[in-house]
Amino acid sequence: MEGSGGPWTLIKLQKVKDYLSRYQDVMLNQDWVETIYVDAFCGGGQVKLRGAREFTEGSALQALSLTRPFGQYHFIEKSRTALAKLQAQIDTRFPDRRVHYHPGDVNEHLPEVVSRLTAQQRAVIFADPYGMQLKWATIEAVAQIPRCDFWLLVPTGMGLQRLATRDPRRRSQAWEKRIDEFMGECDWRTRWYKQTGQTNLFDDTIEEVRSATLQRMSEDFRDRLRDAFPCVAENYLHLKSNNRILFTLMFACSNTSPSAQKIAKRIANHLLKE
Ligand SMILES: C[S@@+](CC[C@H](N)C(=O)[O-])C[C@H]1O[C@@H](n2cnc3c(N)ncnc32)[C@H](O)[C@@H]1O
Repeated sequence: MEGSGGPWTLIKLQKVKDYLSRYQDVMLNQDWVETIYVDAFCGGGQVKLRGAREFTEGSALQALSLTRPFGQYHFIEKSRTALAKLQAQIDTRFPDRRVHYHPGDVNEHLPEVVSRLTAQQRAVIFADPYGMQLKWATIEAVAQIPRCDFWLLVPTGMGLQRLATRDPRRRSQAWEKRIDEFMGECDWRTRWYKQTGQTNLFDDTIEEVRSATLQRMSEDFRDRLRDAFPCVAENYLHLKSNNRILFTLMFACSNTSPSAQKIAKRIANHLLKE
């Protein structure tokens, strides 16, 4: 992935990098644990920010560059070209790291990668899509493995708000299906829309309009995460371009240990403060 980032890109990369670094610090005291980093939409290694001359290191290279690296790295990416580019940079710069490449769809590979985590392994997963590619079933698969810390860029402005059009008659069935698969439920139709009380003059149906703001949609999605994960950060961070919200960064943890949850949530809530 090259050429499409903006200032929000640097913010999300910094937040996740800070978390990975703190995570590795904490795990230093648990030397029986092997830590695993999973980049679910890893890209090609470099990001070109709009208007910038230089490339910025993307999430995969940032995770590999940590002072205390992870025990293993898993990189999932649909574009074979991007994955080959990333692999070439890793072969040169980090030949000694244990790296696994998964070319293909995140919804196939991520459930499989987390299902193979052993009792001695703990994972941090970063899901950084452009849009609505992640399916709820995949998020649930992560929640069911009690060894994962999960950072997720929710496409609130880039996806949910666009597909859930203000006038529901302008929603296509394909868009509705996309939202259903992302949210993992169909009830958003009643939660996000209200009847106006006016009747459509042409077909006598009662007019409906979307009443849910982007804030409401963000809270709704965080509530969905709470349905699936035992621990979810209260805070979330809207990532904006020219004051328009594009994405919302959220954090959830599937670990059932109260002490692990407490540490993870404290660090995540701190990083997600606006
Ligand atoms: C926003 S970019 C990721 C950027 C990366 N985190 C970085 O910092 O360099 C999203 C990436 O997801 C990939 N992608 C899109 N749909 C996908 C899918 N269904 N499964 C896996 N990867 C996908 C795209 O090819 C693109 O490289």
